[in-house]
Amino acid sequence: MITYKDEQGIAGMRVAGRLASEVLDYLTPHVQAGVTTNALDKLAFDYITQVQQAIPAPLNYNPSGHNPYPKSICTSINHQVCHGIPSDKALKKGDIINIDITVIKNGWHGDTSRMFVVGEGSIAAKRLCQLTYDAMWHGILKVKPGAHLGDIGHAIQIFAEGLGFSIVREFCGHGIGQVFHEEPQVLHYGKPGTLEELKPGMVFTIEPMINAGKRDIKEMNDGWTITTRDHSLSAQWEHTVLVTQTGYEVLTLSAGSPPLPSFVTTTVC
Ligand code: MF3
Ligand code: CO
Ligand code: CO
Repeated sequence: MITYKDEQGIAGMRVAGRLASEVLDYLTPHVQAGVTTNALDKLAFDYITQVQQAIPAPLNYNPSGHNPYPKSICTSINHQVCHGIPSDKALKKGDIINIDITVIKNGWHGDTSRMFVVGEGSIAAKRLCQLTYDAMWHGILKVKPGAHLGDIGHAIQIFAEGLGFSIVREFCGHGIGQVFHEEPQVLHYGKPGTLEELKPGMVFTIEPMINAGKRDIKEMNDGWTITTRDHSLSAQWEHTVLVTQTGYEVLTLSAGSPPLPSFVTTTVC
């Protein structure tokens, strides 16, 4: 069932979305060579629970078919696609890392992720991170009443595949609200005019995972971490987006959000 948020729900989602983004702002200066992802997880847990008075949604998250997720954030490095579990391994120069934050505040969820390049980073790594960011925004730009979910997926697909990159198909964006993952599924590939019609009050994430090599993935023995099968680099960005009366409102923004791509003029319309 798709839930449509009323003004009160939208207000709750705005707060949760901003808080999730502010966790990334808080972590940013710590994403450096030598830091362990467990240290980032601890920083995030303390900030979310003590400063934000919120709940890290991943911790003990237990969807069917999975063991409970053991940490507060997801940290997916290099060939890891998503759901990487923080560990005592340190980041090193040239790594790319996705940090994915979901907080629950007053019962509402905000879900967002960004890519970080540790140290200098290769041209190829930086390009993958940038084009994945642009791909997410190409999807967001399609969001308005009367459009269809397939329009979003198609925009992301033609952009990323047109540049010779591949899109992970097994994971998708999702409706979000008082439930972490709810309907609809938001595929990052598709055909224009297909699937659910967008209506005001819908809130969902757009979170493309794009690989430098083939699209195929595998799951690690920890039961969570997804990697590319060919060990090529993978990147992901995520925003939580509201369908407004006339377009979209990006809910997961904060002072430290990266600049908009040049082809984007507004975060709300
Ligand atoms: N935040 C992820 C998403 O974007 C989901 C993480 S589930 C976890 O949907 F259990 F791995 F944390
Ligand atoms: Co999500
Ligand atoms: Co997420």
